[in-house]
Amino acid sequence: MIYRREEERDHAEVCRVVERAFENAEHRDGTEHELVARLRKSGAFVPELSLVAEEEGRIVGHIMFTRIGLGEAPALALAPLSVLPEFQRRGVGSRLMAEGHRIAKELGYEFSVVLGSENYYPRAGYRPASEFAIKAPFDVPEANFMALPLREGLPAPKAAVEYAEEFFA
Ligand SMILES: CC(C)(COP(=O)(O)OP(=O)(O)OC[C@H]1O[C@@H](n2cnc3c(N)ncnc32)[C@H](O)[C@@H]1OP(=O)(O)O)[C@@H](O)C(=O)NCCC(=O)NCCS
Repeated sequence: MIYRREEERDHAEVCRVVERAFENAEHRDGTEHELVARLRKSGAFVPELSLVAEEEGRIVGHIMFTRIGLGEAPALALAPLSVLPEFQRRGVGSRLMAEGHRIAKELGYEFSVVLGSENYYPRAGYRPASEFAIKAPFDVPEANFMALPLREGLPAPKAAVEYAEEFFA
């Protein structure tokens, strides 16, 4: 399995991977692939942080992190994360997150936030965002809104997340 940056030539294949990954997902709205397309055109897009997992020339997973407002802290939102159903539970999602966090740290980002399963994301180190005084800009169960500090010893941001407007389009 190769983990690499998404290139323009990958866009159509990534679109299909995202669509298929979410087909049987617990929480979905069926337009996650459109969100990816919107975010690529957004000012919040970070090209180094749209990554694919590729096996024998075939894209089997994708992850995207985009910039968010979070007080003074340079920060990102992880969304969405997609692995083809037949490649799930092999560690692809975990590797995509680890690779993304590594690059994000190199780029100087301090926090990543995610809205998702409280059973999945803590495996990658995410903890309830409330522990860092990070608030969601909408009503969400506390356990599902999580944050990961990308360095040790960072002060709690004590701020609400401002997502790119493309999330709400
Ligand atoms: C969530 C997802 C990205 C995980 O990718 P993956 O490559 O299967 O994950 P990993 O192999 O790294 O980890 C698998 C483990 O996480 C668990 N897991 C996977 N999805 C989970 C979920 N939604 N909730 C809780 N646990 C989950 C599995 O049970 C598995 O644990 P086990 O092998 O000990 O039973 C993938 O299942 C997926 O694309 N799902 C559909 C889209 C989606 O819901 N994306 C997340 C929201 S943005």
